Amino acid sequence: MKEAILNRLRTAVIGHKLHIFDEVGSTNDVAVERARADGEEGEVFIARRQTAGRGRLGRSWESPADKNVSLSILLRPPCAPAETPLLTLVAGSAVYDTLASFLNDTDGLKLKWPNDVYFKDRKIAGILSELHFEKSHFVVVGIGIDVNADPEDFSLEVRDLAVSLKGILGKEIDLAEVVARLLGSFERRYQSFLKGQAGEIVAFCDAHSHLKGRRISFEGSNGNKSGVAIGLSPQGHLLVKKDDDTILTVASGDVILCS
Ligand code: BTN
Repeated sequence: MKEAILNRLRTAVIGHKLHIFDEVGSTNDVAVERARADGEEGEVFIARRQTAGRGRLGRSWESPADKNVSLSILLRPPCAPAETPLLTLVAGSAVYDTLASFLNDTDGLKLKWPNDVYFKDRKIAGILSELHFEKSHFVVVGIGIDVNADPEDFSLEVRDLAVSLKGILGKEIDLAEVVARLLGSFERRYQSFLKGQAGEIVAFCDAHSHLKGRRISFEGSNGNKSGVAIGLSPQGHLLVKKDDDTILTVASGDVILCS
């Protein structure tokens, strides 16, 4: 797997230090451990199988062995910590680019703010970015993509909510090729972000939004709120128009589609 990825990799930095594990709890945790030692910008940690894959808000992430992409990228971005939430949108755009490069028809491919990728209302990928403050700050961007999973590989709980590339295309996809394209897309998007072009990434996420124009509910500072998602702010926050026509800016949290 390692040779197959490195042979296909066309990046300057991301993934040149590549660590592949047969089994770990969570690749995000492995990346954090490595960062606390002497882990470098762009190191990538891939698991053939995760036993404790994590999603946002304490949820678990299912990743059947050798079928899907489960990886984490260690970043030491020379930007203010306050800007690092945008790295989730950087990763989302990179996952979008990667999946689009395999699909004949990208119509159903959407980015659900802030961290999910959907195909025709089913989740195909998720991102878990974690910011750590230690001697200096670092970020671990964890990405899970359902590539060759079959429905029976998922628990009954998520089976009807998830879809894989194989499920869409009806054929197995080369995992090493998916990883190489993902790391290439990620590096391109990350370079744009570092060059101050975050606006382009936010605009891309807005243009391919799963939520835009749809009624959503979310947990506000004082209780549950609802409204229509109308787009993203330049900072990458979700803009929601309430029924009284006021606009709310949602910086983080979970969003549920009502329709
Ligand atoms: C979510 O759906 O909330 C995010 C899912 C993120 C899953 C990936 S798989 C690789 C990395 N390691 C983890 O434990 N989580 C992320």
